[in-house]
Amino acid sequence: MNLIEWSDKENINIAEVDEQHEKFVSVANKLYKNLGSEKRWKTEMLLKELTELTKLHFLTEEKLMKENNYEGFFSHKLEHDRFLNKLVSFTNNFEQGEEEVTMKFLQSVKNWLINHLELNDRKIGVYLNGKGIK
Ligand SMILES: [Fe+2]
Ligand SMILES: [Fe+2]
Repeated sequence: MNLIEWSDKENINIAEVDEQHEKFVSVANKLYKNLGSEKRWKTEMLLKELTELTKLHFLTEEKLMKENNYEGFFSHKLEHDRFLNKLVSFTNNFEQGEEEVTMKFLQSVKNWLINHLELNDRKIGVYLNGKGIK
């Protein structure tokens, strides 16, 4: 079983973004499979990978929005910033041994992704597709 089941219906029809979402899901699923493992180094590696992917992904979406004068840029970016701050501080705390990856944490990552995708990312997809960008 996976934490997040992914299929083509999750696509927003922007190739680069869809690819990044899928990578994010794949790392989140690896963290889920690693849950309860003694291998702290592995959890740390995956958390860092998730953080780096998230940074890159948000930059990609933000660049696309800016370049195409997307009206909802600021509120969308605000959601990105909030999530990234949480993820970065969680990862730092984990490295300090002050935080553990739990089902609750993974569930919050999953919920964020699904909500954000449905409520925000999908809108950029429609907007950009309307401008002929895929
Ligand atoms: Fe987004
Ligand atoms: Fe996204």
